[in-house]
Amino acid sequence: MQREIHSPKTLRGEVTPPGDKSVSHRAAILNAIAYGEARVTNFSPGADCQSTLTCLKALGVEIKEMPSHLRIVGKGKEGLREPDNVLDAGNSGTTMRLLTGVLAALPFLSIITGDSSLRSRPMGRLIHPLRLMGATIWGRGSDTLAPLAVKGGELKGIEYRLPVASAQLKSALLIAGIFARGQTMLEEPAPSRDHTERMLRAMGVKLEAHGSMIVLSPGTLSAMDVQVPGDISSAAFWLVAGVIHPNSRIKVKGVGINPTRTGIIDVLRAMGGKLQFENTREVGGEPMADITVESSELVGAEIGGALIPRVIDEIPVIAVAAALASGKTVVRDAAELRAKESDRIGTVVKELSKFGAKVEELPDGMIIHGGNHLKAAVCHSHLDHRLAMSLAVGGMVSKGRTVVAGAEAVDISYPGFWSDFERLSAG
Ligand code: S3P
Repeated sequence: MQREIHSPKTLRGEVTPPGDKSVSHRAAILNAIAYGEARVTNFSPGADCQSTLTCLKALGVEIKEMPSHLRIVGKGKEGLREPDNVLDAGNSGTTMRLLTGVLAALPFLSIITGDSSLRSRPMGRLIHPLRLMGATIWGRGSDTLAPLAVKGGELKGIEYRLPVASAQLKSALLIAGIFARGQTMLEEPAPSRDHTERMLRAMGVKLEAHGSMIVLSPGTLSAMDVQVPGDISSAAFWLVAGVIHPNSRIKVKGVGINPTRTGIIDVLRAMGGKLQFENTREVGGEPMADITVESSELVGAEIGGALIPRVIDEIPVIAVAAALASGKTVVRDAAELRAKESDRIGTVVKELSKFGAKVEELPDGMIIHGGNHLKAAVCHSHLDHRLAMSLAVGGMVSKGRTVVAGAEAVDISYPGFWSDFERLSAG
């Protein structure tokens, strides 16, 4: 499917982003292996979180999808049974990696696969430490790629330094660690999103942080109701659209502002973006706020180091803002972008260049020479949801008719994106 975009005269109004994708996956998976019944409200409507539910159901978990919430009946890991078919994680790296952490502890054979994008993403980083914990696990491509075959069983805790700052990897090992003998100790090269740690603690697991080391003791989980905050990674498209559009004022409501996710706020503020927070509150252990943005004059920024894991999913849309900012923006230390739903360094450089942006590719990032007007372009999402929405934001500030091919990719995390765009354009 392709979508045509004409730059709207104004971007005004209020928008509520969908439930956070990362928190939704965790609420479903952790409650599925907990004891008791839980209600999850504002669960992400995206296809990725549906993939998690489909896999959990195939493992025998009782999940009822009501219009207003999800009901999950957890019977511990004993409540899960051998799936009678291959598990399909679709496009979702979080589904595959976190669930593999569960499968590693289950005493039967599971095979998990995904779409062609997910089957090209690195899994060796997961297979290696799970084997150290005692799991029997194989992958295609000499144990580097999915499909993965897992014959789980008895696990032991390990002390392990993660080779990359990856919340998916960290979470998979923490989940396996719940069922292991002895403690699991993980050291991250830089802090990544900590939703798993927050939820595990709230569900009764002993988990401590000693400097950059996370120490988890095995235990059982008690079911917990979760109210999922709005996804800051979906809000990011409106935050950027709001600051770069010349006639805008957008209030983005109910946005999760966990500090491990707010790199986008820090970057936009450093670039001169006008953002205001109100109604800051805490919901189910996660902070949340309404954020208002308006047209701003932007300057380039340096983005690298420990900021990268806090802003990793927002770099494609930041690149759009950087193309319009005055001066140069340099993104470094972000080689992980190449291992996302698309190679987001290659695809961002290629597609943004079609708008007349001056972008240079680096092995671990990009240099964006700003100060240009963008011209409308015919571009492609590469079936990457965040790229589709970033290109749409580019189209919102480009003269002429922009076409985004592969526009259906937004359904992965934000199925209401196009209708929210139409509403804000009419505002
Ligand atoms: C996610 C972690 C991030 C992020 C992804 C979702 C998660 O990946 O890019 O979209 O839910 O844990 P990493 O595992 O590379 O941190």
